[in-house]
Parts: sequence; structure tokens; C-alpha cells
Amino acid sequence: MIEFQAVRKQYANGTVAVEELSLSVPTGTVTVLVGPSGCGKTTLLRMVNRMIDPSSGTVLVDGTDVRAQDPARLRRGIGYVIQQAGLFPHRSILDNIATVPILDGRSRRDARARAAELLELVGLPAELAKRYPAQLSGGQQQRVGVARALAADPPVLLMDEPFSAVDPVVREGLQDELLRLQGELGKTVLFVTHDIDEAIKLGEKVAVLRQGGHLAQCADPDELLAEPSDDFVTSFVGRDRGYRRLSFVHANGLVPRPVPTVELGSTVGASDGWRLAVDADARPRGWLEPGREVDGELTEDALVAGGSLHPLDGPLRGALDAALSAPSGQGVVVDADGASLGVVTAEDVLALLHQHRAAP
Ligand SMILES: Nc1ncnc2c1ncn2[C@@H]1O[C@H](COP(=O)(O)OP(=O)(O)OP(=O)(O)O)[C@@H](O)[C@H]1O
Ligand SMILES: [Mg+2]
Repeated sequence: MIEFQAVRKQYANGTVAVEELSLSVPTGTVTVLVGPSGCGKTTLLRMVNRMIDPSSGTVLVDGTDVRAQDPARLRRGIGYVIQQAGLFPHRSILDNIATVPILDGRSRRDARARAAELLELVGLPAELAKRYPAQLSGGQQQRVGVARALAADPPVLLMDEPFSAVDPVVREGLQDELLRLQGELGKTVLFVTHDIDEAIKLGEKVAVLRQGGHLAQCADPDELLAEPSDDFVTSFVGRDRGYRRLSFVHANGLVPRPVPTVELGSTVGASDGWRLAVDADARPRGWLEPGREVDGELTEDALVAGGSLHPLDGPLRGALDAALSAPSGQGVVVDADGASLGVVTAEDVLALLHQHRAAP
């Protein structure tokens, strides 16, 4: 566990970056620090591995004051990932990852073998091992940065805007990867971002900071969206928080309705309503418009593209999105194999919310 106790940091030029802040980061969880530029996030993060020492107050890692520990040694137990990965440009990818274990006294051979495993763990192909950082995309470099931070198997991981330099699609992939990794590794992660959506997606606890290093609110994401503590947090979490909160509401109790289906390759007559086209494994392929007749066998050309799909055990947000994005207004619910289980409408989702409200 990482604990900040009444920590304050005033820089030599008089700037107060962090003002008397207390916060606990429980072991094995992802805690996100989020706030506008200059609010003291990086300062706070770097006090954990002693890249910065507080002016007053105490930082504890596993109950020990970090000031009582040798900085070099302390840092070996703490992985650190920064924006644009910060890789050594003249070392191969494999050697970048192996650096810390070698410093730690492992044999070069062992360290490289471990590095190769880590490359796979973060989802990179083995061919990249021999390349240099400049020969990788930004997203690949970030993955290497994560692998390098994990190389010494540190219990604590500090991540300072690690994904903010990559495009939104790659970024989403990296976030999903981090969540998957965390599910396997269970590190104590302190993650900094200025992006509230990233904070809500990744954090089990989210600490919102405001200018001058004040802690505005620390809560789990659902609570943050439901009950922002003041106007600053309200404006920071943004306008569509009601909708985004549906990400945390389970769709238990949402029962898929039967829907008329037609199979690709079959012959179909006309019908008044929308029909869901499926393949031989019952996986949805698109919709057949009302009144549409098909000469001969049904092919994909005759279909209107479908909306997003809602996995049966997914959150309500996905169910609502599936309904809103489908041309028929009916969101397709799928099982783990992607086979259609039926449909839900936006009204179904709202009715369920109504029930939740009546009996939470
Ligand atoms: N070495 C320094 N000397 C003086 N002031 C500093 C120093 N480092 C940071 N500051 C100031 O301290 C405040 C907090 O900086 P910090 O880097 O912690 O912010 P941040 O929340 O990480 O911002 P960003 O989102 O832009 O990265 C800012 O006002 C910054 O200008
Ligand atoms: Mg910063």
C-alpha cells in the first residue's frame, strides 16, 4: 500500500505544487490521479520513488517511510512508465526490457529470456525484440515501456500519462491490455492522467485533483459520476455522466426478446417488420429492412449494417448503445460465442433502470 500523509511540496521558486494532501493507494488496486494540467499529479507520483522529496509530510510504501530507504534500491521495487515510453534509443527492444534485471544482478541470458516472455505478455510479436525503439510505432513503444517497468517484477507500478501520446484507437487497446495484465498480475498501480474517461475506465479508485495539488474527491468511478462532491468535480467529470454511469450498472434482469431471424443462404419472402440476418452459427450479420424481398438466396448485399452488439453479461451502457445504434432500434444480445440470444430496445433498458431505482 502507498500512503501519502499530509504531503506538501513547494518548489524552490515558491510554487506550491501539492498542498497538504493525504491519500491511500490500497495494495493490488489501480488508483488513478486525474486533474487539469499543472495540478501536481507528476509531483505527487514522483514523491513515491523519491525522484522528488516532499517539503513536509510523509510518503509510506508498505508502511515504511520512503525517506528511510536508499533511492536506487527503492526504485528497483517500483516500475515507472512515462509518456513516450522513455526507452534507451541505442539499445534493442529486448535489451531495453532486460536492463533492470541485469542491474539487479541477473545473468544476461536469464534477463533476456525473461524479457522475451514480457514482450509476449504485453502483446508484442517476438520479431520486434531485435529492433531499436525508433523502428516501432508509438503504441508499440508504450507496450515496451510497460514490459520494461514489469521486468523486475516490482509490486508497485507508477504510470505517468503513459498512453497520452498515441491515437484514441491504439490508446483504447493499451488500456484494455493494462486491465488484462492487471487481472493477471495484481500490482499496486498509481496511474496519472488528465483524461477523465481514461481515469474512469482504469481506476478502481479515482482521485480528482485541482490546481495547487488539492484533493477534490477520491471515490470509485461510479460514485464519482453519481455524486461529484462539488462544482469543480461536476464540471471535470463532464456533461454526459448520467449516460457514462451506465457502464457501471450491470444488465442483470435484462431479458432478450425473441426476434424474427433469417439465415444467410436461405430463401426469404417479404415481411412487415425488421428481420435479423444470422449466419449458420446464429451470429448476427445485419438486418433485412421491412418489406424487403430477396430474389433467390439471401446474401450480405441485401442487408443493412447492424449496430453494436451487447454481450449478455455486459453493462447497461452497452445494451443501450446496441439499441440506439441498430437500424431497427433493437440491440442484439449475444452469448460468449457471439450467437444471437434476441434483442433489447432502449425502452427495455429504461424500464430496467426504473426498477433499479425503485429497488436498488
Ligand atoms: N522543478 C520545478 N520547479 C518549479 N515549479 C515546478 C517544478 N516542477 C513542476 N513545477 C510546478 O508545479 C506545479 C505542478 O506540476 P506537475 O508537473 O506536478 O503538474 P501535472 O499535474 O503533472 O501537470 P501536467 O498534466 O501538465 O503534466 C505546476 O505549476 C508546475 O509548473
Ligand atoms: Mg505531469
